[in-house]
Amino acid sequence: MTDFAATKAMFDLPEGVIYLDGNSLGPLPKSATSRVQDMLTDEWGQMLITGWNKAGWMGLPTGLGDRIGRLIGAEQGSVVTGDTLSIKVYQAVAAALELNPSRKVVLSDNGNFPSDLYMADGLLRSLGEDYELRIVDPEDVAEAITEEVAVLMLTEVDYRSGRMHDMKALTELAHANGVITVWDLAHSAGAIPVDLEGCNADFAVGCTYKYLNGGPGAPAFIYVAPRLAETVRPALSGWLGHEAPFAFDLDYRPGSGIERMRVGTPPVIQMTALAAAMDIWDMAEMADVRAKSIELTELFITRVEAACPELQLASPRTPEVRGSQVSFRFTEGYAAMQALIARGVIGDFRAPDIMRFGFTPLYIDEADVIRATEIMADVMQNKLWDAPEYKIRQRVT
Ligand SMILES: Cc1ncc(COP(=O)(O)O)c(C=O)c1O
Repeated sequence: MTDFAATKAMFDLPEGVIYLDGNSLGPLPKSATSRVQDMLTDEWGQMLITGWNKAGWMGLPTGLGDRIGRLIGAEQGSVVTGDTLSIKVYQAVAAALELNPSRKVVLSDNGNFPSDLYMADGLLRSLGEDYELRIVDPEDVAEAITEEVAVLMLTEVDYRSGRMHDMKALTELAHANGVITVWDLAHSAGAIPVDLEGCNADFAVGCTYKYLNGGPGAPAFIYVAPRLAETVRPALSGWLGHEAPFAFDLDYRPGSGIERMRVGTPPVIQMTALAAAMDIWDMAEMADVRAKSIELTELFITRVEAACPELQLASPRTPEVRGSQVSFRFTEGYAAMQALIARGVIGDFRAPDIMRFGFTPLYIDEADVIRATEIMADVMQNKLWDAPEYKIRQRVT
């Protein structure tokens, strides 16, 4: 059993804050401060360039990939970290398209995160006019999987509502129609149990700054099924994905397996912070995290609906098809969220009217949920959000 009191004690949470935004940016693991400090002074400071070998910096992308892999049901050696998630989406979709050269359609849904759609659109434009990004409603995805489709690109957990796609069923249906799958796990990794191997997934990508707590700008990850890893041709063929980067050959030869999905120099400082965050994940089992997350989200929904009738649930009511977040619609949602943040309850806002709250059992417990809903009741019942300072839109919402 995961000891959630012990995991909570490993985070540096500001006094008086109830942090319900770990689905956007996880909090600081206490050990990250000294780990990064030591890396800076002992490794960068003392070893200088020899740190790449002596401190093992070059092995960080795959080492961290394996640690993340445990949480998403990936085979050892099938995940590598680096770059941003948007870049990894591009890489995965480009590689998937090359595996299905006679087809020209990438299928996605309008619940997908816009950056995924933008990246796919940009990629398809560079490939030619006969390529198409087809976007359907989430509930129509299964029906739209036809033999015309090359790649199915979906985010498993909807970033706004928390609605989950059935990864196993859709992957099976895709394969039955000769379609390659790319799953975005940004709101899944560390939020819900994922079984990439069991689902027979082809490609998956995700980020490490949300539920995994790697810090702002932490590197993304990419998974390639081992059965495909020696076949895929990386479109972003950077030197560190080369078979022999330090041979400095003029022609590109992909590295072995997942190594070929590396692009350039890894962000070592950021990866050191992520390594500290992964130490906490080593104390947790995803099944426990999921069970606790469901308890917390159920409690939150029940209490908010009882106290704040003007908020309308925008997440699935059934916990089995809901990720680890709960969203409510409210026309003045932006102002209401600012009023909550001013009172120490931090969630976020997604246009046009979604108030979004993330539940992360590693550091959120029942007492936090009860206190947060008391504060919400006060803000809503007394219209505390109706003040000019809460209506000024900031750059990041
Ligand atoms: C589902 C999803 N995909 C892609 C992205 C883009 O990630 P990045 O900014 O790291 O490229 C995000 C960012 O929040 C996201 O939530």
